[in-house]
Amino acid sequence: MTGASRSTASRRGRGRRWLIKLGLGGVLLVGVLLALGAGALTLLGMPTYEVPKVAFEAEPTPQRVERGKRLVSMLCRRCHYDGATRALTGRVLPETRLGRPSAPNLTREPQVGIGGWSASELAVLLRTGIHPKTGVLVPPSFMPRWPRLADEDLAAIVAFLGSEDAWVAPHAEEPPPTQYSLVARYRALWSWSPLPYPRAPIEAPAEVELEAHGAYLVDHVLQCAACHSARWGDFDALDPPRTPGYLAGGAATGDVNGVVLRAANLTPDATGLAGWTSEQLRRVLVDGFGRDGKVVRWPMTRHAGLERIEVEAIHAYLQTLDPVVNVVEESPPYRIVGRKADAGRHFYVLYGCQYCHGDKGVGVADLRGAAKRFATDEELTTFLRDPSKHDPLPIMPAYAGVIGEDEYAELCEYVRRLGG
Ligand code: HEC
Ligand code: HEC
Ligand code: HEC
Repeated sequence: MTGASRSTASRRGRGRRWLIKLGLGGVLLVGVLLALGAGALTLLGMPTYEVPKVAFEAEPTPQRVERGKRLVSMLCRRCHYDGATRALTGRVLPETRLGRPSAPNLTREPQVGIGGWSASELAVLLRTGIHPKTGVLVPPSFMPRWPRLADEDLAAIVAFLGSEDAWVAPHAEEPPPTQYSLVARYRALWSWSPLPYPRAPIEAPAEVELEAHGAYLVDHVLQCAACHSARWGDFDALDPPRTPGYLAGGAATGDVNGVVLRAANLTPDATGLAGWTSEQLRRVLVDGFGRDGKVVRWPMTRHAGLERIEVEAIHAYLQTLDPVVNVVEESPPYRIVGRKADAGRHFYVLYGCQYCHGDKGVGVADLRGAAKRFATDEELTTFLRDPSKHDPLPIMPAYAGVIGEDEYAELCEYVRRLGG
């Protein structure tokens, strides 16, 4: 090598070292900026909004309380109910990118519950998403909003929450507060906003107008398009048919074990619900069992409180949709556990218990205390056959006629093992 080329090489080496230093400095700077930004986001807290002033009243008639319980069982129970207290005492929900949501106590207890809330405050939260006590927006992915729910249905929910029912009897349990991740704090600043409080009264179409009533239930009460559209998170609660891929399915959600599930195409196409009878739909919606005879997986839940005429209405409305060709990927089948290897676990997996209760018996409802709460196998078996005997309008499916009578003993043994 000549002297000249050696010196060029060392100059190049020095240049490269400089570049490396600059690069490191840049990375450091970006890191510091990110940390400052994250710190600022945390310090700033969640943005607050002016709480709309409204005058909503809900005279608690017995009819309203009865209907309110059905609505609460379908709209609120899956997050705010705790099987251990058999009441709406709240619970911690599965963690997501947005943090760890925690559904508060909704009993009449005045401090930790909502005993001190007025009908108008509840109406503001349920319609707009603004927490009436703090002005903070409850993230729409933590709790849905019902901006077009009929006034009468809203009044029924409010009347029920203030009633003497055991679900809302004062309880002092207080779930830990919600934890918002940085992603949630960022999105709260830039992409979430409250919905406007409606200015005019809202009435539901009469039940006899089958299709119109079905559209109301699908769009404004049960909000099927929040999941059964192209993408999770795009739901337009004010005008659901404007949601991209409205009811044609495909949106991916994760179950409690992190397995990706895709919501079905509900339009009357061969790739959707073409040919479905209202009885098949009833089996899914009311009982929670799909066309393959297996439990429909969480987050799709049964609505034990739906009446037959309501199922007919939903069926009639879905038939009026334009058929959309959309082959939705099948949800992955669950792995099989041999009966010889572990009979109890075999049935737990075979009957889909782990779709909701997870591998460890926690999931959407904690089974670890079940061994104590159901002292004998007979009590536990009675519950599994029909949980509504234990507490009405459950989310847990009734397994009578699905689980073989000779299979309960081993399954009960496994549920007790999860508790230990
Ligand atoms: C998907 C889960 C989910 C559903 C369904 C749901 N909620 Fe919530 N709810 C939450 C979470 C999570 C919070 C707390 C959010 C937060 O802290 O940002 C909350 C907060 C509340 C609060 C505020 C309570 C307080 O003390 O601060 C009320 C009231 C409430 N929900 C009522 C209802 C009612 C009534 C329904 C049914 C019509 C319902 N929720 C349905 C998850 C849910
Ligand atoms: C919270 C999200 C969510 C909501 C709300 C929801 N679904 Fe689903 N639904 C799902 C998911 C996810 C699946 C797929 C479940 C599986 O693979 O087991 C599903 C499956 C179905 C199926 C197919 C069952 C089968 O046997 O193939 C039907 C039918 C259905 N939903 C109808 C509805 C109707 C009607 C509504 C409104 C009344 C609704 N769903 C509301 C998430 C949801
Ligand atoms: C679709 C979801 C889902 C499936 C599938 C499911 N459960 Fe549940 N289970 C629940 C929910 C939710 C509760 C809490 C009560 C309620 O809201 O209905 C519950 C409650 C229970 C309880 C009572 C817990 C207590 O301490 O009070 C037991 C025991 C139980 N389930 C066992 C099972 C077994 C065994 C299977 C399978 C054969 C199963 N579950 C399948 C959702 C489900």
